[in-house]
Amino acid sequence: MTVALTAEGLHTYYGKSHILHGVSLEAAEGQVTALLGRNGAGKTTTLRSLMGLTPPRDGRVSTFGTDITRWPPFRVASLGVGYVPEGRKIFSNLTVGENLLVPLERPGPWSPESIYRLFPGLAERRLNRGRQLSGGEQEMLAIARALLLNPKLLILDEPSQGLAPLITREVFRIVAKMREQGISVLLVEQNVRMSLEIADHAYVLDDGHIVYSGPARELAADEARVQSLAGASAEEWNPAS
Ligand SMILES: Nc1ncnc2c1ncn2[C@@H]1O[C@H](COP(=O)(O)OP(=O)(O)O)[C@@H](O)[C@H]1O
Ligand SMILES: [Mg+2]
Repeated sequence: MTVALTAEGLHTYYGKSHILHGVSLEAAEGQVTALLGRNGAGKTTTLRSLMGLTPPRDGRVSTFGTDITRWPPFRVASLGVGYVPEGRKIFSNLTVGENLLVPLERPGPWSPESIYRLFPGLAERRLNRGRQLSGGEQEMLAIARALLLNPKLLILDEPSQGLAPLITREVFRIVAKMREQGISVLLVEQNVRMSLEIADHAYVLDDGHIVYSGPARELAADEARVQSLAGASAEEWNPAS
């Protein structure tokens, strides 16, 4: 089994706050790996550590066999690691089409044309500005932007956050499709049940420690554990908007 990404013993701090306490994980090539855990567990910090946005003080990160520990984010991206941050971070004053001109381009099948075929809704909104899009459309645009990098590994931070159930399904369908296309996926989610439906492997992070690692199917069958994870999350939360 080839490994898309390996993290070993990450210790990450914000100033003096010690957030990650030796986090180790692996994302297998061609699989969806879910990283779950309650709010504040350190999921986003883990992704930021992997991407070089908040470099770990201790520990190693490698992707497809290259050691990328403490590399700046643009260099990590240039190896084919696409990152869709929490909260989407699209440019609200640029149009959809302009947002898609921003990313670093790497050769491969994904181009604005193939993106518009995958997301017909975005094609219709091509001339609309980011701020005019619905939450679901913004998420699709954020994913589309990461795809233009033609990533070998796609890292997603809570793509379903704040989306209505139907749109959430659509986002998960896209994630499954990425795997079909041979892209490895590392998925951080609060929607525990849906994540476990599509993931191959799952990790649970709690208070900066990995407390579970195993097949997603196995975790899904542990109803008590799923309950406690899902109950502690915003899974049921849907904004009125
Ligand atoms: N920029 C920051 N400065 C200081 N503390 C932070 C910062 N970002 C997050 N934290 C703290 O780090 C911990 C982990 O946060 P985070 O990684 O965002 O968790 P999650 O994504 O699992 O909800 C939390 O206690 C949070 O308050
Ligand atoms: Mg987070």
